[in-house]
Amino acid sequence: MKAFIIDRYESSNVVHASEMPEPELREDDVLVQIHAASVNPLDLKIRSGALKLILPYRLPLILGNDLAGVVVRAGARVRRFKPGDEVYTRPEQERIGAFAEYIAVSENALALKPKALNMEDAASIPLVGLTGWQALVEKANLKKGQKVLIHAGSGGVGTFAIQLAKHLGAYVATTTSAANYDWVKRLGADVVIDYKKTDFEAVLHDYDVVLDTQGGATLMKSVRVLKPGGKLISISGPPDPDFARAIGAAWFVRMAMGMLSYRIRKLAKRHQVSYVFLFMRADGEQLRHIAELIGTGAICTVVDKIFPFASTPEALDYVETGRAKGKVVVKVSA
Ligand SMILES: NC(=O)c1ccc[n+]([C@@H]2O[C@H](COP(=O)([O-])OP(=O)(O)OC[C@H]3O[C@@H](n4cnc5c(N)ncnc54)[C@H](OP(=O)(O)O)[C@@H]3O)[C@@H](O)[C@H]2O)c1
Repeated sequence: MKAFIIDRYESSNVVHASEMPEPELREDDVLVQIHAASVNPLDLKIRSGALKLILPYRLPLILGNDLAGVVVRAGARVRRFKPGDEVYTRPEQERIGAFAEYIAVSENALALKPKALNMEDAASIPLVGLTGWQALVEKANLKKGQKVLIHAGSGGVGTFAIQLAKHLGAYVATTTSAANYDWVKRLGADVVIDYKKTDFEAVLHDYDVVLDTQGGATLMKSVRVLKPGGKLISISGPPDPDFARAIGAAWFVRMAMGMLSYRIRKLAKRHQVSYVFLFMRADGEQLRHIAELIGTGAICTVVDKIFPFASTPEALDYVETGRAKGKVVVKVSA
């Protein structure tokens, strides 16, 4: 089958087309013919080798973490899916490979595609949807009337998270640049801050939750937005010791993560707020809940550009600019 792969880690674009064997099916897997895949900054981080410690892949590796398609075969122990089902998924992290014609996916990571969506829109959802869900529902336990700041409301994660937070009844502030102001407001944000002109930490106070997508200075300043007892959840900041324990990291990795997150944990403690690093995981059950929200119209997709399969490297380049408005999708087959 045709696929886009890397055979070495490098920051520049080493992703190239290749013929790869069709994936082998385990008993609890389904084989999915991929119709569309979406691009995530995670693909760039995997490509560069930046996540080797957390995600030790064997090369050559088919890239791609998000897809929608049709089930063509089901393993002997698969109960919930059959050939012909239209599905969407973020495959388990050790079995990625969405920039390809076929993929084998555990049925636990899979859900039926939201009926109202075409394949391209459906492929735009799983990874950012699961990230938003795991941050705001699982980690933050966000409740009606609470105040949440979501950084980069115009990005893949942000566009989903704003809508989910509004659905949960929260008051939502977000950051983006001026050009995106109006449409991010239309997604439901109550307050939109142009991060190029205004210091968000000077105008936002007493928030219950911050979802940090930026790390660095943005992460550190976010502490000041929270009220005592508030939660700072970061998907781009340094991994913390709890995360190291949860993934069963070796002692030296645990130590490294403890050191990397020391400053932010210390600052959070001083402000009486908690710091949590989130690395999202595959979850078919949560994708079913998300499909329901899409079905009711509570959440809409935001797709910036759709590239043909042959232009997968260009789709990655576009995401690498950091200027995408919502999601970038690759149309794999008709
Ligand atoms: N740990 C995890 O499980 C996990 C999961 C998903 C994503 N992530 C990470 O989270 C980050 C965001 O992911 P994404 O998919 O949302 O990225 P994305 O779609 O590529 O984000 C692009 C958007 O970010 C905005 N932006 C850039 N710099 C900004 C800043 N300083 N303040 C506010 N907005 C800014 C841009 O708006 P302008 O053009 O207006 O600047 C653009 O619309 C990435 O680093 C990704 O790897 C982690």
